[in-house]
This record gives sequence, C-alpha cells and structure tokens, in this order.
Amino acid sequence: MKKGFIIAGNWKMNKTVKEAVEFVNWLENNIEFNDMVEVLIFPPFVSLYELSKIVKNVKIGSQNMYFEENGAFTGEISPVMLKGIVDYVLIGHSERRNIFNESNELLNKKLKSAISHGFKTVFCVGEKLEERESGNTEKVIKEQIIKGFEGIDKKDIENVVIAYEPVWAIGTGKTATPQQAQEVHEFIRELLVSYFDLNGENYILYGGSVKPENSNDLLSMKDIDGALIGGASLKTRSFSDIIHNSYKILNP
Ligand code: PGA
Repeated sequence: MKKGFIIAGNWKMNKTVKEAVEFVNWLENNIEFNDMVEVLIFPPFVSLYELSKIVKNVKIGSQNMYFEENGAFTGEISPVMLKGIVDYVLIGHSERRNIFNESNELLNKKLKSAISHGFKTVFCVGEKLEERESGNTEKVIKEQIIKGFEGIDKKDIENVVIAYEPVWAIGTGKTATPQQAQEVHEFIRELLVSYFDLNGENYILYGGSVKPENSNDLLSMKDIDGALIGGASLKTRSFSDIIHNSYKILNP
C-alpha cells in the first residue's frame, strides 16, 4: 500500500517572477488537489516571496540555502531569510555538488542548519555514469547519505525526504528503468534501517528525466514515494499530467 506521494518540481534557473506567479496560479486553479499527494515547487530565490503570498495548496521550497544565519557571505541566502516563506529546502542537488563543488561536509552543515531552523528538507543523492559503470553506485550513495546525515538526531533524519537522482539521468532524457530505480531506493531504505536504526518510512523520491510517459511505471514501484522533476515541471501540462497520473496509482 502506497502511503502517498510527493510530486516536486525543480525549476533550476528558469522562470522570471511573473512566469512563476502565472504558473503557480494556474496550478492552484486548474489541478485537483488530493490529501495523499503533496505538490511542491522549487522556484528560483527571487520568486519565493511573491509565491508565498499566493499559494494555497502548493508547497514551495528553496533550491539551496547557506548554513549560517547572516554575515559576510556574498550572494548567499540564509535560513533566517527563508523562514515564513518556504516550507522546504532542497539540499545537495547534483548540480550543486558537481557544478558548484559542494562537498558532503558542506551539505551536512546545510542539512543540519535547515533542520534546526524548522524546515522540511529534501536531500539529494545520486551516482555519476562512471560510478555506475564501475559498480560503485551503492558505495557512492552510502557515503553521501552517511556523511550527509552525520551528527543528526534519529528523529530528525526520519523526516528528511531523500531524492535519488542518478546524475546520468538528469536532463539527459535517459531515465533509470523502474527496476534500476527501485533497486537503489530499496538499498537506501535498508540503509536507513540498518545504519540509522530508523523505521524506513522516509519518503524517497526518484528524479532524472521523469515525464508523463514514464511516471506511472516509476511511481508504481514499491519503494518510490514520489518524483523530483526538472524539465517536465516547467510546463503546466506535463507537470499536472504527472500529478494527476499519481492519483490513479493511489486509487486504481
Ligand atoms: P530532469 O531534472 O527531470 O530535467 O532530468 C531532474 C532534477 O535535476 O531534479
């Protein structure tokens, strides 16, 4: 039995404030909302405040956050500034890890800070193509999770949403097969139980070229509790189709 889904859109560096407001207004007025499915958007920072004033059913989150509260950190945004504006903070997206060189240690500080400021968090992990091809997928994921969660209380880790996003499947049109995704999701869930002694009920989202045509097969897998969607979250049609598709899995 599925407990429900989180369907999240990661807009990355796309959409002006005006476009963001139009998109979210469209969602609020045109999709059916369902208690079992949380609809979440990660827009660029500059849109967050405007969106926070208009959202009713849609949840919003920031794509990044620095761990300090204030100070000489040019260009950064702090948890204190996001408070009251966002529900969620996204931490460790592969573009942050790989383009901006964010290390497991830095991401651990960000995750701790976001949790201590009361945000819900989505923490991303995923292997690169060469890591998969050399048989190191599980090793990489394990290290990202163990280092990312180091020093965080069990009761707080329980509430972290994990997003598994194989780097080779992001924005490439190559999706992991539902079986490939399921295998890693199951590995992550078992790690949460064996290493952190959790009940294994964390939401684990899949990300990487999710679109309406493949979302049903992915979301039907036992350990896939939702999706983190880049490209297909930028169009109202494809994003709302994925949301509506997920309802049918919960109520076949
Ligand atoms: P994609 O991006 O759906 O465009 O592959 C997913 C992500 O990076 O979160």
